[in-house]
Amino acid sequence: MVLCKKWILAKPFEGQVKKDNFKLEEEEISDKLNDGEFLCEAVFLTVDPYMRTRELGAKVGVAMGGEQIAKVIASKNANHPVGSLTRMRSGWRTHTLVKEADKEVIRMPDLGDLSPSLVLGIMGMPGMTAYFGFLEICKPKAGEVVLVNGAAGAVGSLVGQIAKIKGCTVIGFAGDDAKCKWIKEDLGFDHVYNYKKIDIDVALKEAAPDGVDCYFDNVGGEFTSKAIMHMKLFGRMSICGSISAYNSTAPPMGPLPYMIILGKQLKVEGFIVMRWFQKWAEGEKEMKTWIKEGKIKYRETVTEGFDNMPKAFMGLFSGSNVGKAIIKV
Ligand SMILES: NC(=O)c1ccc[n+]([C@@H]2O[C@H](COP(=O)([O-])OP(=O)(O)OC[C@H]3O[C@@H](n4cnc5c(N)ncnc54)[C@H](OP(=O)(O)O)[C@@H]3O)[C@@H](O)[C@H]2O)c1
Repeated sequence: MVLCKKWILAKPFEGQVKKDNFKLEEEEISDKLNDGEFLCEAVFLTVDPYMRTRELGAKVGVAMGGEQIAKVIASKNANHPVGSLTRMRSGWRTHTLVKEADKEVIRMPDLGDLSPSLVLGIMGMPGMTAYFGFLEICKPKAGEVVLVNGAAGAVGSLVGQIAKIKGCTVIGFAGDDAKCKWIKEDLGFDHVYNYKKIDIDVALKEAAPDGVDCYFDNVGGEFTSKAIMHMKLFGRMSICGSISAYNSTAPPMGPLPYMIILGKQLKVEGFIVMRWFQKWAEGEKEMKTWIKEGKIKYRETVTEGFDNMPKAFMGLFSGSNVGKAIIKV
């Protein structure tokens, strides 16, 4: 028997996420394996903003959903020997009995000597979100002006750097001076602003007097209502997330200057990164090359200890992470 710890959703989310939304439970998992089965222990887990949503998070009484990187500790599956690493969507739990590897295991990217934790960040879902969500929807061209918010987060910090690689001028907004310093001085963003301290209109008039060609939106809400006014004719908006609204108790209804979309003939497209899942290997390869060439940098905010998962998750909404939020067991 193996004793597994798991974080279940104890109370439905309502407004800000709180400690008492979660409960730590234990579950006994048999270590008597049938052919083809293997048992894993979590090494790295992730907390992501999407887990706040009812559809994608968890139902009350059920373990919170999400990916993890786990080490095989017992195996009757030759493709997954003891000691090997796997990526799974098995949720906030320390141990997982994999019965049907074909269905439960997600292909690992070719990492070389990179840390496996990056499979939950730049080399995984958030990295592919930046890569495909930005390049496929905004289709940036050299010389264009790119705006990204959530700019020091897992996705936003990569979008800005990809835009620089493509020869664009990059404007980034983040909610903390130290984050702004990082994206400007280390990542090479051209203009950075702390949205908690400045007027977004004033900042955009200064940084993009002729307007914005591409807007990668992680935040939504009031920020977007303002930013949209600064789009250029035929601008492109990639709607990635709306974190400013995830803790709202009512659906966000605007204000949205809708006529601007018409008048400026904007392309506004939402996406879910799984749309490009079949092409992820292409994005992973390019990301790895850019990392090796020093063209893309990344940061992880690592929370030690499985018991601290809710704290790390709540931190996403107060901005306590720089780059990707990771949990190390
Ligand atoms: N469409 C897709 O397929 C897809 C896939 C992955 C992620 N996403 C979305 O992409 C966005 C970024 O995700 P991520 O994983 O990279 O998270 P992240 O940016 O690493 O972490 C969340 C950050 O959001 C900022 N934030 C929190 N509350 C905010 C508010 N009210 N207003 C403005 N900023 C706020 C905080 O940074 P500050 O300190 O700067 O405030 C926080 O650090 C999220 O909206 C997420 O849902 C979408």
